[in-house]
Amino acid sequence: MTTCVSTKPAKTAAWMRNEHRIIAGLIANLSAHIAAVPSIGRDEWLSTLVQLVTRFRAHMRGHMKAEEADDGFLTPVLQRRPTLSREVDHLLHEHRELLSLLDQVAEEVAGLCAEDVLLIEDACHRLQHLLSAIRHHEEHEELLVTFVFSQDIGTED
Ligand SMILES: [Fe+2]
Ligand SMILES: [Fe+2]
Repeated sequence: MTTCVSTKPAKTAAWMRNEHRIIAGLIANLSAHIAAVPSIGRDEWLSTLVQLVTRFRAHMRGHMKAEEADDGFLTPVLQRRPTLSREVDHLLHEHRELLSLLDQVAEEVAGLCAEDVLLIEDACHRLQHLLSAIRHHEEHEELLVTFVFSQDIGTED
């Protein structure tokens, strides 16, 4: 994962969009995997699921940490628009919730075995719901950055 190294609005927005593209790719890989649970050969499928979830969780941890850093995007948003503190607090709270859910699902999939047909089905449903919540969170952030930095994006390098 890249880190956000500039507080310039255009660079902040570009960093975020690049990160969100990477996250969208990880989500697409996970979604495709959980949409195709095999009836045989589930050991290998489970092993790949654990790897994908582990990688995704690690990326999201780093991503949220970077967003919350002083040179991330939440601090510049607050500096520019202090009235948006509730929006920023909401996103920060969602970070805690999403990481908690990611921890739970990572622990759960690591404990599954090929015979756990119902548990696998349940884990996949909850994972789909979590991926959808993360997609929504990232869209919310993009809207916020576009709104706050709209006058600067495209005018700075
Ligand atoms: Fe975020
Ligand atoms: Fe984000």
